[in-house]
Amino acid sequence: MLLSPDFDSSADCVLYEGDCLALLKQVPDALVQLVVTSPPYNLGKPYENRLEIEDYLAQQQRVIEEAVRILRPQGSICWQVGNYVDNGEIIPLDVILYPIFASLKLQLRNRIVWHFGHGLHASKRFSGRYEVILWFTKSQDYLFNLDAVRTPQKYPQKKHFKGPKKGELSGNPLGKNPSDIWEIPNVKANHVEKTAHPCQFPVELIERLVLALSDEGDWVFDPFMGVGTTAIAALMHQRRAMGAEIMPEYVQIAKERLLLAEKGQLRIRPMGRPIYDPNNIAPPVPPQMVTLQHDLAQLPLLEEEQATYPSQQEIEETP
Ligand SMILES: C[S@@+](CC[C@H](N)C(=O)[O-])C[C@H]1O[C@@H](n2cnc3c(N)ncnc32)[C@H](O)[C@@H]1O
Repeated sequence: MLLSPDFDSSADCVLYEGDCLALLKQVPDALVQLVVTSPPYNLGKPYENRLEIEDYLAQQQRVIEEAVRILRPQGSICWQVGNYVDNGEIIPLDVILYPIFASLKLQLRNRIVWHFGHGLHASKRFSGRYEVILWFTKSQDYLFNLDAVRTPQKYPQKKHFKGPKKGELSGNPLGKNPSDIWEIPNVKANHVEKTAHPCQFPVELIERLVLALSDEGDWVFDPFMGVGTTAIAALMHQRRAMGAEIMPEYVQIAKERLLLAEKGQLRIRPMGRPIYDPNNIAPPVPPQMVTLQHDLAQLPLLEEEQATYPSQQEIEETP
C-alpha cells in the first residue's frame, strides 16, 4: 500500500502536512465518495487562532466549496461540530454552518446526535454531552449501505403474532437501523485510543460513516485530519484515505498510528462494545487490534523518526 505526502491518484493513503485548501487544489473534480471531518470550532484551541465569527464562516465556506467540488455525484459530506462559545453564550455551529451547505445545493439527510458521557462540568448551564454530525448528499441518487451498519435487535426472536406474516420474525434479521442518535464514548484521558490531540474522533464513529456511505476502493477525505482517525477507519475497511493537517506534530502522530496499524498493534475500542455500566456484570469486551489488509510500503521508514506518541501500554484503559 502506498502512502504519499501529496495527492497521488495511485496512492492508498495521502497525508498532507499543511493547509487543507492547498491539498484540495491538487484533487480533481468528483473523485471522492465521502468527505468526513471535524473542523476547528474557533474556540482558541492550541491549533487555531480565534477569529471573528464572520471570518470563521468565510474560511469554512472556502473549504466546503472545495469539498463539494471534489465530491462524486453519489457522495456524502459529514461535518461534525459542537458549539462555539462567546462570552458564556453558546452558538451551535451546525445551525450557522447549515446555510453554507444549503446555498451549495447539498441535501441534508440526517442531523445525527452524537451523545457521550464525559466532558467539562458546567456551573452556569447544563453540562454539554452531545455534538452533531450533519450528513449531506450531493444529489438524490446517493450511496447508503444500511445493512453494513445495522445494530442488534433488542428482541431478535420477536415474531408477528397475527396477520399474513403471523409467525415470521417481525424485525430485520440483519439488525436494526442505528437511528440518528449515536451513543459512542468520546476520547478522553483513559480511552484506549487517546493521543496528545485534545479532540480526536473515536474510530468507531467514523467506521460507521465509512461503512454506510462509501464502498471498498472509494476515496475518503478529511480536510482537518488531526491524528489520522479518518484515515485509520477508512483503511481498516479497504477504502483509500486522504487528508490534511496543519500541525506537524499531529501529522507525526497520524503516521505513527498508521505504522502501529500496519504492524497489527494499534488498539481501538471495538464498534458495538456496550457502554460501560457499573451495574452490568458481563465481562468487558477487550480492545480490538486494527489490521490493514495491505502493508503500508513506505511506513517502515517512519520507525527511524523519533516517536512522540505514547505507547498503548502507557495509556491506561477504561473498562
Ligand atoms: C477538531 S480537530 C480534528 C481532529 C481529528 N478529527 C482527529 O480525529 O484527530 C481539527 C484539526 O484541524 C487542524 N487544522 C486547523 N486548520 C487547518 C487547516 N487550515 N488545514 C488543515 N488542518 C487544519 C487542527 O490542527 C486540528 O488538528
